[in-house]
Amino acid sequence: MTVLVTGGAGYIGSHTVRALRQAGRAVVVLDTLELGHRAAVLDAPLVVGDVADATLVARLCGEYGVTQAVHFAAYKSVGESMQHPAKYWANNVGSAAVLFETLARHGVHEVVFSSSCSVYGTPPSVPVTEDAPIHPESVYAETKAVAERVLAWFERTDGLRSVSLRYFNAAGASADAVIGEDWAFSINLVPVVMKAALGRSGPLKVFGDDYPTPDGTCIRDYIHVDDLAAAHLAALDHLAAGGATTAVNVGTGTGSSVMDIIHATERISGRQVPYEVVARRDGDPVASFADPEHAAQVLGWRATRTLDDIIASAWAWHSTHPDGYGAG
Ligand SMILES: NC(=O)c1ccc[n+]([C@@H]2O[C@H](COP(=O)([O-])OP(=O)(O)OC[C@H]3O[C@@H](n4cnc5c(N)ncnc54)[C@H](O)[C@@H]3O)[C@@H](O)[C@H]2O)c1
Repeated sequence: MTVLVTGGAGYIGSHTVRALRQAGRAVVVLDTLELGHRAAVLDAPLVVGDVADATLVARLCGEYGVTQAVHFAAYKSVGESMQHPAKYWANNVGSAAVLFETLARHGVHEVVFSSSCSVYGTPPSVPVTEDAPIHPESVYAETKAVAERVLAWFERTDGLRSVSLRYFNAAGASADAVIGEDWAFSINLVPVVMKAALGRSGPLKVFGDDYPTPDGTCIRDYIHVDDLAAAHLAALDHLAAGGATTAVNVGTGTGSSVMDIIHATERISGRQVPYEVVARRDGDPVASFADPEHAAQVLGWRATRTLDDIIASAWAWHSTHPDGYGAG
């Protein structure tokens, strides 16, 4: 009864590994450590290797008695995916397909997959429901949409059931500031705001303040990484109870603007966040936030943490780990 967590040494994976273990579940982490950290898994079992190594994955399934898997391991930079698309097709789709086949053929028929709200592209309306059109606007987003389809085919060919969790904007750190997001590898807004507040970068670039929103800046659904972790446990339970393959939005249902993040950070940290307004970025949706009702109905899961919880935990982590995990 062990959960294989691929990419479990990364940001969201490490928080999920911790949540699984706190809930008394056995785990084994498989990560190349290319973008993850040994220190982030704490004392969970870690195997350094690639998800495309079928011999290794088959061995882990047998040795650890794996019954379920959570597949985080992937590349996640939208910009890089447009520069080096083959790298993204190979890892996020090709290696994922090898993993799913290996799992299914070694007795693991329940997989929770890290998908992304980016599969919707610029949503035609908000809040976004799961039946919104799939309209990826980057290679990265398309790899997530294709991997969802690959999983659907593995149900036909190998009886593998899955939950694709379409994350909105993951943010924050563990409440005790023991694990968090290493900003060396992240260009997400919250770590970038923290960097500016701590004087570890120049002023924050705000990409456009003339959008049709109350303060003119873009609106996103920031979800606390520990709420995300809890959604994975709920998805694993859904599959263990025989639940059907589905795709689920994982967000709070509330949008926050870039200025909301800046103001909350200034209030909570007591520091100024220096920023400058620059031109809009191509392809940035004005507003994107989740309709979380499907997740509540199918998984019995809702986010419980607030934007202040996100900012306070991120501040506690970054101000005590200004070099992230360092060489760890
Ligand atoms: N961070 C977000 O806001 C966000 C939003 C939507 C979706 N996602 C998805 O969630 C997942 C986790 O994101 P994250 O922010 O924790 O990323 P991350 O980069 O911190 O973690 C990914 C981990 O996977 C590992 N990895 C990559 N390819 C591998 C391979 N072939 N074999 C073994 N290990 C491999 C990396 O070393 C890293 O530790 C990714 O699939 C990402 O696309 C993230």
